[in-house]
Amino acid sequence: MHILVTGGAGYIGSHTCVAAYAAGHTITILDNLSNSSPESLNRVEKISGRRPRLVVGDIGDRSVVRSVLDSEKFDAVIHFAGYKAVGESVAKPWEYYQNNVAGTLVLLDELRRHGVRNFIFSSSATVYGNPDPKDLPLKETAPLSALNPYGATKLWLEEIMRAMAAADPAWHFLLLRYFNPVGAHESGLMGEDPAGIPNNLMPYITQVAVGRLKELTIFGNDYPTPDGTGVRDYIHVCDLAEGHVAALAKVADLPGCTAINLGSGSGVSVAQLVASFEKAIGRPLPHRFGPRRPGDAAACYADASKALQLLGWKTKRNSDDMCRDAWNWQSKNPNGYKNA
Ligand code: NAD
Ligand code: UD1
Repeated sequence: MHILVTGGAGYIGSHTCVAAYAAGHTITILDNLSNSSPESLNRVEKISGRRPRLVVGDIGDRSVVRSVLDSEKFDAVIHFAGYKAVGESVAKPWEYYQNNVAGTLVLLDELRRHGVRNFIFSSSATVYGNPDPKDLPLKETAPLSALNPYGATKLWLEEIMRAMAAADPAWHFLLLRYFNPVGAHESGLMGEDPAGIPNNLMPYITQVAVGRLKELTIFGNDYPTPDGTGVRDYIHVCDLAEGHVAALAKVADLPGCTAINLGSGSGVSVAQLVASFEKAIGRPLPHRFGPRRPGDAAACYADASKALQLLGWKTKRNSDDMCRDAWNWQSKNPNGYKNA
């Protein structure tokens, strides 16, 4: 298939390019490089021996989107492009709604004008809000809510796609709800390269390990979980990438709008992840316990059975693999793609 990958130079996008090349697909990327480096595509080429065509442009720029769609025929789109930082979305809500929602509306409009209707969307477990423990593990039918503008952009886009599919049966939307993507390609050539001080757990851990940050603060050890620390469903980014390839294989057979969780199906606590990481680096990781982070859920993990049933996909890699690969990437690239 020839796939248009928006946001393909980013963290999940670049790993998905590698997995899509392994499956024999052809790739064009549309990315404005607002949160990524084109160096990630040099790394894709090193691993895959193939280099995606990169169009540097914005999904909200109609003339750019139109010229990309006029230039080639695409069988499907994987739509990663968007802003993703929860805290920043609270400070800059207009920018989040503009970029994520308004940008996607332009993209969808040009796609329907060009007759491209196989669409795989990067949604998030954030659409489950702060889940009620009785709903764990979360099925796709669990109640949805948004706790911040970032979450609202995902929820609204899902809603827009549900309505568009109901109005026009030619659409095939797969809403992939990612749980907590972490880790890196096993080569150590590609990984997560967040700008500024990371908010998320794994990049914070790796930057402490490499000496860029002093110590990890574990947010809360008094949750009603087995060891008192927060429980999440971490998913290796290469498993997630392979989930997209599985979705590409099935999207044409799934008309309408289908939400699918991409997670491992099991919960891992912060303390367990830190222990796995310490095993990977062979030394203790400086850390201390601090208060809970406002808005955090005690536990959030997927029921991953629908992905297995519909896509024939499940995760293969465990927490030890995630920590080993995240460390391999960070230790070989202490400053990410900068100075590469
Ligand atoms: P990322 O920031 O590394 O990648 C996003 C890419 O989109 C970047 O390369 C950025 O330059 C590009 N981009 C942003 N706005 C754009 C625009 N208007 N036009 C063109 N390109 C644009 O993020 P990621 O971690 O790879 O996430 C990819 C997608 O998955 C996002 O939509 C994100 O919300 C979603 N998601 C991510 C996570 C996670 O933890 N990483 C979890 C759930 C969902
Ligand atoms: C966060 C986002 C969520 C998004 C998800 C994607 C928030 C509030 N939520 O979820 O919308 O979909 O990322 O991956 O930002 N932790 C620490 N110390 C740290 C950082 C995190 O103890 O320095 C803990 C957290 O309390 C949590 C766990 O680690 O229990 C995971 O945190 P994080 O990586 O930020 O992900 P989420 O909070 O699950």
